[in-house]
Amino acid sequence: MRVPGQDNQKIPHHVVIIMDGNGRWARKRNRPRAAGHRAGVNTLRKIVEHAASREIQALTVYAFSSENWRRPGKEVSVLLKLFVTSLQREVRNLNENQVRLQFIGDRERFPEKLQQSIKKAEALTATNTGLRLIVAANYGGRWDITNACRQLGGLIESGKLTPAQIDEELMQSHLSLSELPEPDLFIRTGGEKRLSNYLLWQIAYTELYFTDCLWPDFNPDHFDTALAWFSERQRRFGQTSEQIKQG
Ligand code: IPE
Ligand code: IPE
Ligand code: MG
Repeated sequence: MRVPGQDNQKIPHHVVIIMDGNGRWARKRNRPRAAGHRAGVNTLRKIVEHAASREIQALTVYAFSSENWRRPGKEVSVLLKLFVTSLQREVRNLNENQVRLQFIGDRERFPEKLQQSIKKAEALTATNTGLRLIVAANYGGRWDITNACRQLGGLIESGKLTPAQIDEELMQSHLSLSELPEPDLFIRTGGEKRLSNYLLWQIAYTELYFTDCLWPDFNPDHFDTALAWFSERQRRFGQTSEQIKQG
């Protein structure tokens, strides 16, 4: 965790987004939900470019939750197809812009073709030095924490670890995003004020920003509004306001 008051906290290093509202955006236009998801991909492209221009280090976006399998089969298959086509279409451009693309979540449940596209995209962009774009797909915060516990359990079983050695740092190192700065700013579009099982551990001290704007309508100006809001926050990390002012 960064020490409060000791570095420039005005621009977030790591922004995490719940891209919500595609379905309602489509319904308002009497179009199928799929049209909203397609429009959502266009928004993501613009926001990625914009975040890179604002010198944000990492952007983590929620594309498909571990609970989204509960949607009608037809919508799930539209989304899975859209992942494959979007990846194929966007990866070259991302690579040219030095974006390093990674996925978090349980990818084993995805069709083989999608798993291959993900692997290829990650390999292609692995040495890029620009924006880190992390796509959370079949991701759930509870899955993440459970997965970390399972890994630690395995280490104990094989005699490499004792329960007493488990501390927050070790736990964190087995969770998704462990090699990135902790999320500074969380944005949820679409008006709902809930976490929907996103990054439960990682956002313990993240500033939470909610907007009614539906994801396909979200644009770089909206993103800048969220950044401006963030720059006004005083992050205390448990300390008092006076302590922070004294630096
Ligand atoms: C977010 O938009 C995209 C995914 C969950 C994949 P929604 O599809 O949830 O849109 P709303 O919330 O129904 O409007
Ligand atoms: C969260 O949105 C997941 C993604 C944006 C991928 P949902 O639309 O699935 O969340 P709930 O069901 O309204 O909480
Ligand atoms: Mg939704």
